[in-house]
Amino acid sequence: MTSLPEEAPPTFEVRVLPGPDELARAASREFASAARSAVQNRGVFRVVLSGGSTPRALYRLLAAGFPSRGMPWRKTRFFFGDERCVPPEDPLSNYRMAKETLITPLGISEAQVLRMAGEEHPRRAARIYEEALRREFPLARTAPRFDLVLLGLGADGHTASLFPGSRALLEKRRWVAAVRTEAGPPWRLTLTLPVLNAARRIFFLVSGREKNAAAAAILKKKPGRRRFPASRIRPHRGSLLWLLDEAAARGL
Ligand code: 6PG
Repeated sequence: MTSLPEEAPPTFEVRVLPGPDELARAASREFASAARSAVQNRGVFRVVLSGGSTPRALYRLLAAGFPSRGMPWRKTRFFFGDERCVPPEDPLSNYRMAKETLITPLGISEAQVLRMAGEEHPRRAARIYEEALRREFPLARTAPRFDLVLLGLGADGHTASLFPGSRALLEKRRWVAAVRTEAGPPWRLTLTLPVLNAARRIFFLVSGREKNAAAAAILKKKPGRRRFPASRIRPHRGSLLWLLDEAAARGL
C-alpha cells in the first residue's frame, strides 16, 4: 500500500512476509506512509496503537528511526485500541508496552498520548475514554475517523479486546466498551466496531503459527468465519491491509 492521496479509493491487500522482522519493517514503511499522508492532508496524524506482543518490533523500529528520520512525530497523536484493566505500570498494560518501546524512546510528550485509564473502574474508564474521544473529534457523529488503526489477531480470532461471543460486538452506539474476559485480567477496555471500521486505514499485524486457523478462515472467507471478531473488521470508507508472516499465512 503506497502513500495514497486521501481521495484514493479504499484498498484491500493481504501481504505475506517471510518472518516477524520483515513484517515489522513492512509495517513501519506503511505506518510512515500513513503518517505523512495524514499530516499532508490534515496537519495531524491520529493513530490507534495495538497491544499484545506483535507490535513491539514495529514500535522499536519506529523508535530507532526506521524507515526514515523524517517522521512527523510532533504532529502525531497516539490512542489505544484496547487496554487491560490494570495500572499503567503493570507488565500487562498495553500503555506500558507502548511507552517503553515507542513513546519514551521518541521523547513523545504525554500531551500527545491519550491513555485508557486501566486503573479506573472498567465502566467508568470506558466512559472517560469516550468523553475524551468526543473532545478530540468534536464533529464526529456516529464515530471518530482515525487516520490509522493498528490491530492484532488472537488465535481465537479476537482483535483489540473484542472476543468471540462478546456483547461488545453488538455495540452500535458506544465508542468504548468495558468487557469481561477469561484471558488475562478479568476486565478490559476496547474500541467498538463502529469506531474501528470508521478508520481511513486499518493494518492487521499477524505473526505466528497459532494465528493460522483464524487468519485462513477470515481471509479465505470460510463458512463460520463470523465467529471470529476480526472477520467483522471491514472499514466502511477506508483501506484494510493484512500483514502476515509465513507462519501465520500458511494455507492462505
Ligand atoms: C491485546 C491486544 C490483542 C492482541 C492479540 C494478538 O491487548 O492483547 O489488543 O488484541 O493484538 O491478542 O496478540 P499478540 O500480538 O501478542 O499475538
